[in-house]
Amino acid sequence: MATKMNMILSIIWTCCWIQIISGNPAEIMRQSNKFGPPLSADELNCIPTFNKSESNPALNHRCIQHDNKNAYPALKWPKPFQVPYDIDSTFTARERCVIGHAMKKYHNHTCIRFVPRNGESDFIQINKLNITGWDCNSLGSGYIDGSGAHTVNFSPQCFEIEPATAMHELMHRLGFDHEQERPDRDNYITVIYENIPADWRPQYEIAAGSTALLQYDYSSVMHYPLVDRMKTKKNTRGVEVGQHRGLSKLDIMKLNLMYCKI
Ligand SMILES: *[C@@H]1O[C@H](CO)[C@@H](O)[C@H](O)[C@H]1NC(C)=O
Ligand SMILES: *[C@@H]1O[C@H](CO)[C@@H](O)[C@H](O)[C@H]1NC(C)=O
Ligand SMILES: *[C@@H]1O[C@H](CO)[C@@H](O)[C@H](O)[C@H]1NC(C)=O
Repeated sequence: MATKMNMILSIIWTCCWIQIISGNPAEIMRQSNKFGPPLSADELNCIPTFNKSESNPALNHRCIQHDNKNAYPALKWPKPFQVPYDIDSTFTARERCVIGHAMKKYHNHTCIRFVPRNGESDFIQINKLNITGWDCNSLGSGYIDGSGAHTVNFSPQCFEIEPATAMHELMHRLGFDHEQERPDRDNYITVIYENIPADWRPQYEIAAGSTALLQYDYSSVMHYPLVDRMKTKKNTRGVEVGQHRGLSKLDIMKLNLMYCKI
C-alpha cells in the first residue's frame, strides 16, 4: 500500500513538473482535439458504479495549478443558468456517465446549468488526457473574462474510484478552491508541512484575500484527505474528511450563495 501510494505520488509529482516546464500540458497530452456530442439526457441521468475496494485516499491529491484561494466570488460565471461546455470526443461511455452524473448533481441542487457550447468564446473545455497516471485538474479557478477555453482535464484513472473527482474539478472551474486553503483554516486543521513535498505545499497554504463562504466544512468535496499531511483541531467524529462521494450540504449551500441568491 505504501509503495502504491508512493508510486501514485511520484506520478503526480512528475505531472506537476512536466506542467511547469512545458507551459501548456493540456494541449500536449490531450487525447484528441475533437469535441464530441454534448451529454444526452440519459447520460446526465445515468448512475455510474465504482469498485469501492479500490478507494485510496491518496488518490485525491491532485495536480492543480491556480492561486491559493478558497472562493472567488469575483470570478463567477456571468450566467449560472448557462455555463457552456465542450467535451472531448474520446471519453468512453462510462466516463461520459461519470461526468454527466457530476453535472446532474449541480443541476439538481443549484441554479447552475452546464449547457452545450453554442459559439460562446468563454467556455468550459473538458479534456481527456492521454496519460496512464492519475491527473485530474482544473487549470485555473473560476471564470476569467476573455480567456477562452477554461479547461478541466482528466486522465482515464480519474474515473476509476468514486464520483467526486468530476464534481471536484467542476467546482474549481466554478470558482472554488480547496477547503484546507481557507483563510480560517488554522482554527480547524494543522498542516504537517514536513510530510508534504515542496511542490505540493501551495495546495495547503492560506491565501490572503480569499473569501471564506459560510463555515469550514471538513466534509466538503473540496477538502483533501488528511493522510499524514493534516490533522484536525476539532472533533470530526462521524465525518469523513476528504470524502470522494459528492458535493456536501455546505458545498451546495456555498454554490447557491455565490450563484443563485441575489
Ligand atoms: C496516446 O499516447 C501514446 C504515446 O504516448 C500514443 O502511442 C497513442 O497513439 C496516443 N493515443 C491517442 C488516442 O492519441
Ligand atoms: C471493477 O472490478 C471488476 C472486476 O475486477 C472489473 O472488471 C471492472 O472493470 C471494475 N470497474 C471499474 C469501474 O473499475
Ligand atoms: C437528480 O434528481 C433526480 C430526481 O429526484 C434523481 O432521480 C437523481 O438521482 C438525481 N441525480 C443526482 C446526480 O443527484
